Amino acid sequence: MAPYISVIIFIAALVGLFRNPIPSAYSAQLKGFHQEECDALLQFKIGLNDSYASLTSWVNGTDCCTWNGIYCNNQTNHVLEILMDGAAMVTGGIISDSLCSLRYLTRLVIQTGLRGTLPPCFGFLSHLYELDLSENELTGAIPPTLCFMTNLTYLHFRFNKLNGSIPSCVGNLSSLTLMDLSHNKLSGSLPFSLGNLLSLQNLKLEDNDLSGKIPYSVGNLSLLERFEVSYNHLSGSIPSSFAHLSSLVYLIADHNAFNETISSSAIPSSVFGLYLSLHQQTISESFFQNLTKLTYLYLSDCKLNLSTTWIPSFQLSELHLISCQIDGQIPPWISTQYSLTGLELVDNNLVGEIPSWLWEPSSHLLFVTLSNNHLQRLLFPDTISLMPVSYMDFSGNALSGDMPLVWPSDLEVLLLNNNLLKGTIPSSLGNLNQLMQLNLANNNFSGTIPQSLGKLYQLQLLNLANNNLNGVIPSSLANCSDLQVLNLGNNNLEAMMLQNFGKLNYLHSLIVPSNKLKGSFPLSVTSCTSLQILDIGSNFFQGPIPHTIANLSMLRVLVLKENNFTGNIPSEIGKLKNLQILHLSSNHISGSIPETIASIEAMTVVPQEGYVLTVDGWYVYGSEYQDGLNMTSKGVALYYPYILSTLTSIDLSNNELEGEVPSDFGKLKGLRFLNLSKNSIGGFIPYSLAEIRQLEALDLSTNVFSGKLPGELDSLSFLSSFNVSNNNLSGSVPQGGKLNTFSRQSFAGNPNLWGCPLPQNCSWPEFRSPPPTIPTYNSIKKKKIPWFEIAVGLSYGAGLGITLSFIVIKRQFHKFDAVLKYLFPFFRNYKL
Ligand SMILES: *[C@@H]1O[C@H](CO)[C@@H](O)[C@H](O)[C@H]1NC(C)=O
Ligand SMILES: *[C@@H]1O[C@H](CO)[C@@H](O)[C@H](O)[C@H]1NC(C)=O
Ligand SMILES: *[C@@H]1O[C@H](CO)[C@@H](O)[C@H](O)[C@H]1NC(C)=O
Ligand SMILES: *[C@@H]1O[C@H](CO)[C@@H](O)[C@H](O)[C@H]1NC(C)=O
Ligand SMILES: *[C@@H]1O[C@H](CO)[C@@H](O)[C@H](O)[C@H]1NC(C)=O
Ligand SMILES: *[C@@H]1O[C@H](CO)[C@@H](O)[C@H](O)[C@H]1NC(C)=O
Ligand SMILES: *[C@@H]1O[C@H](CO)[C@@H](O)[C@H](O)[C@H]1NC(C)=O
Ligand SMILES: *[C@@H]1O[C@H](CO)[C@@H](O)[C@H](O)[C@H]1NC(C)=O
Ligand SMILES: *[C@@H]1O[C@H](CO)[C@@H](O)[C@H](O)[C@H]1NC(C)=O
Ligand SMILES: *[C@@H]1O[C@H](CO)[C@@H](O)[C@H](O)[C@H]1NC(C)=O
Ligand SMILES: *[C@@H]1O[C@H](CO)[C@@H](O)[C@H](O)[C@H]1NC(C)=O
Ligand SMILES: *[C@@H]1O[C@H](CO)[C@@H](O)[C@H](O)[C@H]1NC(C)=O
Repeated sequence: MAPYISVIIFIAALVGLFRNPIPSAYSAQLKGFHQEECDALLQFKIGLNDSYASLTSWVNGTDCCTWNGIYCNNQTNHVLEILMDGAAMVTGGIISDSLCSLRYLTRLVIQTGLRGTLPPCFGFLSHLYELDLSENELTGAIPPTLCFMTNLTYLHFRFNKLNGSIPSCVGNLSSLTLMDLSHNKLSGSLPFSLGNLLSLQNLKLEDNDLSGKIPYSVGNLSLLERFEVSYNHLSGSIPSSFAHLSSLVYLIADHNAFNETISSSAIPSSVFGLYLSLHQQTISESFFQNLTKLTYLYLSDCKLNLSTTWIPSFQLSELHLISCQIDGQIPPWISTQYSLTGLELVDNNLVGEIPSWLWEPSSHLLFVTLSNNHLQRLLFPDTISLMPVSYMDFSGNALSGDMPLVWPSDLEVLLLNNNLLKGTIPSSLGNLNQLMQLNLANNNFSGTIPQSLGKLYQLQLLNLANNNLNGVIPSSLANCSDLQVLNLGNNNLEAMMLQNFGKLNYLHSLIVPSNKLKGSFPLSVTSCTSLQILDIGSNFFQGPIPHTIANLSMLRVLVLKENNFTGNIPSEIGKLKNLQILHLSSNHISGSIPETIASIEAMTVVPQEGYVLTVDGWYVYGSEYQDGLNMTSKGVALYYPYILSTLTSIDLSNNELEGEVPSDFGKLKGLRFLNLSKNSIGGFIPYSLAEIRQLEALDLSTNVFSGKLPGELDSLSFLSSFNVSNNNLSGSVPQGGKLNTFSRQSFAGNPNLWGCPLPQNCSWPEFRSPPPTIPTYNSIKKKKIPWFEIAVGLSYGAGLGITLSFIVIKRQFHKFDAVLKYLFPFFRNYKL
């Protein structure tokens, strides 16, 4: 079938080409340019978003050879190149098949967020040697007609949303030296015909959904230098034919589903960078016998069996051993690697002391990650301050005792969270003036937060949560003008010296719950207009919630629960259009629920996958900060934080609210959790609640609701928690539907309510169970990942001086959920 389709496409494309007014070429020649080519570009321009006005030169009647981003042949005036990155940058638009009339085109480079599918007629641009449509939003499959481009040398489609499989005819692209299809959604297996691409030097397919085995034929690509297929689902093994790839320098195949033994004889000795995830395979010294050129080594999920006296025949620059069941001390053979700049030994069983040989003055280490082991002691020589290390991650160990006073003076990231460290936080940390992240959460630190931390002008993340810190939150922190995340939750802090906090223009997250903070609402915080998470719950704050809360227009999470706040819920709350989580429970808030609550925009839309609420990054809590999506783009490492777009919740329980629920509350169609229990809210239960189709938990218990229980609520098919007990409802519980699936305790304490599951007037025999429950929204939809990356990230990592190969894409979603459940116990019972 497929060949016929491509023939039809082929003919259609040819007809399209020859329909162009070729006779007019002569007259155009007199004008010096080719009108039909200029017309094709103008046609393309119509679909482009030129919000930076970089295409103002593209005017009909003028010579398109002079247009921004267009390059022509000097003699023939035919358009040869379209280069739309950099100066000729547009912000999105639609790809157009009008470009197919530019028959002399040799280079087509457009990296601008273009949408649409790849026009099949591109395959007939027979002079094209470079096709670069990276970093667009192209969807659909790669059309097989592209295989006609026999002059194509460079093919870049990285960072798009292409799906379908790699066409099996790809082997016809016989001039190809570089093929980069990475970071798409391509599936299926690698075509056998790849083995025909005898000029291929770079093959990049990482981060797709490719499966099946790597074809044996790839071993014929004798010029291949880079083979990159990490983050796919490839099975089998590295084929033995790879031994013939005598030019291979990088073999990057980690995070696949290889389930057969990978033989070291398949790995050519030319390999310089080797990245593999090994399905618990045992790796012994002989594996490395011939790999003398190895410089970058990444192994995960292996069983490393190396003798302590081993002296490897390679000299590594980076060593990453993740989940390789390494026991005992940090292996001494690592000390023979005197050029090491990066050392990552994560998720192993390392114990004991972090050895002093790591900190020899001659060391070149820049990046040390020893997280998730059982290391007990950290001792530095005095010379440590002279070391060039910029990144240290010792989190998730059993480090005890006091924290060392002296650290490498160039340190940019210091992660010591989840250890057993005690004593005070040394004020000498204030001298680490390059520090961008400091995470000491989940230790036993006591004493006060040193004022000196205010000298860390570059600090972006400060996480001291879950310690025994007391005293005040120092005002000096307001001097850390780059601060984005401040998490001091679960300590014994008593006051907040926040006068100048309004200066923190980048603060995304202020998280200080479960302390002894007192006084009125910290007003200066309402000037931190970037704030997305404000959690001051479980403290002793009092007085009213200020109207200026509305100034925090980016706010997504507002947690004021368990304080002594009084007064009304300010009606300005409705202006917080990004608000997803509003938790005001257990205060003394009175008055009625403001009508405006129904206009919180983020809750009025049904959250969908891919739906992004704001375009700004959301820095996730504390230690999870680094778990976003790190990726490299144009040589720059970017951090793409995830955004939780599907979680929505209102909890106003345990207050002194009265009046009625606003009748148009049902406009909050995206709400998933609603708790109004333990108030004095009365009137009828608005039947508009039934319009909130996503609702999973509805707790209206212990109020003074009266009237009937609206039968409409039966249509809430995702409801898994429901409570209207202790009210003054009357009439019958709606029978035979969703509401009947809840227990008697959900309805108890309404003297005038009757019908099953209440005992009054229930005709079900005792032994019969209530009607079966309908699967919840969770179990149907939430199997998918509820976190979404957003397309706009903050530049991160680039300044860390870390070599790019350290930046590996992580997709750790579960941890986020765990953290969220930890911070909001309310969600613990739900699968997010
Ligand atoms: C450009 O102008 C010519 C003559 O005025 C006209 O025929 C042609 O359709 C125009 N092209 C576009 C793309 O508007
Ligand atoms: C055009 O780009 C600007 C800037 O990125 C954006 O705000 C606008 O929404 C875009 N318009 C369309 C129609 O895509
Ligand atoms: C690929 O090449 C083969 C033989 O060289 C030819 O039969 C086939 O039609 C070509 N396919 C495409 C899509 O170019
Ligand atoms: C690989 O090359 C060998 C000869 O070197 C040849 O016999 C074989 O057919 C080639 N395989 C492919 C898939 O091109
Ligand atoms: C490896 O995985 C593939 C795909 O899941 C499967 O078809 C194959 O049987 C597995 N092979 C072995 C040896 O387990
Ligand atoms: C190393 O290379 C030698 C000679 O080419 C070969 O005999 C030996 O099997 C290789 N060892 C491994 C583990 O591949
Ligand atoms: C903040 O920095 C200024 C100088 O930029 C300094 O004068 C002031 O004392 C600092 N404040 C604190 C509390 O450290
Ligand atoms: C809040 O915004 C209003 C104007 O919208 C402004 O007058 C006021 O100063 C702001 N308050 C704070 C605390 O930033
Ligand atoms: C609603 O809030 C009350 C009081 O804060 C709490 O006891 C109850 O468990 C909450 N309901 C649900 C469904 O979480
Ligand atoms: C409960 O509702 C009934 C009407 O159903 C009403 O007569 C009674 O006064 C209500 N009781 C309270 C305490 O509100
Ligand atoms: C409903 O709420 C009441 C108190 O507000 C509580 O005692 C009861 O256990 C709750 N029922 C269910 C099923 O959660
Ligand atoms: C339900 O029972 C009450 C007494 O508990 C009785 O007054 C009422 O008529 C009954 N209603 C029905 C429909 O059986």
